[in-house]
Amino acid sequence: MTLDQIPSMPSPPAASNLHVAVIMDGNGRWAANRGWPRLVGHRKGVERVRGLVEASPELGIRYLTLYAFSTENWKRSTEEVLGLMSLLSRYIKAEAKRLNKEGVRLRFIGDRTRLEPKLIKLMDWIERQTEANTRLFLTVAINYGGRDEITRAMRLIASKVQKGEILPSAVNDALIAEHLDTSFLPDPELIVRTSGETRVSNFLLWQSAYSEYVFTPILWPDFTPENMRAILDTFRSRERRFGGVKT
Ligand code: IPE
Ligand code: IPE
Ligand code: MG
Repeated sequence: MTLDQIPSMPSPPAASNLHVAVIMDGNGRWAANRGWPRLVGHRKGVERVRGLVEASPELGIRYLTLYAFSTENWKRSTEEVLGLMSLLSRYIKAEAKRLNKEGVRLRFIGDRTRLEPKLIKLMDWIERQTEANTRLFLTVAINYGGRDEITRAMRLIASKVQKGEILPSAVNDALIAEHLDTSFLPDPELIVRTSGETRVSNFLLWQSAYSEYVFTPILWPDFTPENMRAILDTFRSRERRFGGVKT
């Protein structure tokens, strides 16, 4: 490999253009600690989403990506799955005005095909309603799994190769990224997981190649913008090298 073939290191984003992704975990335990049904925890979790979305621009976050429902979450009880889907519908309907007022563009990643047609329509609708906004790019992952996303991208690329639209040698990391659900997003600089679990749980597998991780014991329904501010302070003090050495 010659020097000019070495992939360039991503340049650090301006302090106010961060992409932060969050694995919002711990809703069930938060509710169980109080002897309440799990769905109460999810409802409180939605309130925390509102708070973080509102505070994000001021915290220096330009892109906020939230893991709301994984491809594995279908394993939960029908009651919980339906409850989560209905919370999502309600969030979309209730939030349209506020998102526009706050300059938030909302988009979704994940495989929509398994969702209720009514919910898909709402998702398409809010994406269109907010498409002119640029202050905060909010992305919500629904029926999202990193492996599923990569698999779908590979199928698309394979069918293009089969049709002769692209050569196998043209498949490189930029082309793969273009076929992922996140094609419109930069990679996240920081991934935060709440609730003390230290797993990735199939979130942004491709995109997290050089992300920093912060794991906090705080349960999602207790997570405030102040907690995010403290995490961002820690993140900003870390040295990111991207495989190079300190210069
Ligand atoms: C995260 O909270 C929300 C979703 C996965 C939908 P959990 O529901 O996983 O809460 P715990 O992990 O059981 O506490
Ligand atoms: C990850 O949390 C998915 C979301 C936050 C939506 P889970 O609670 O589903 O993950 P595991 O089961 O602990 O790995
Ligand atoms: Mg969990």
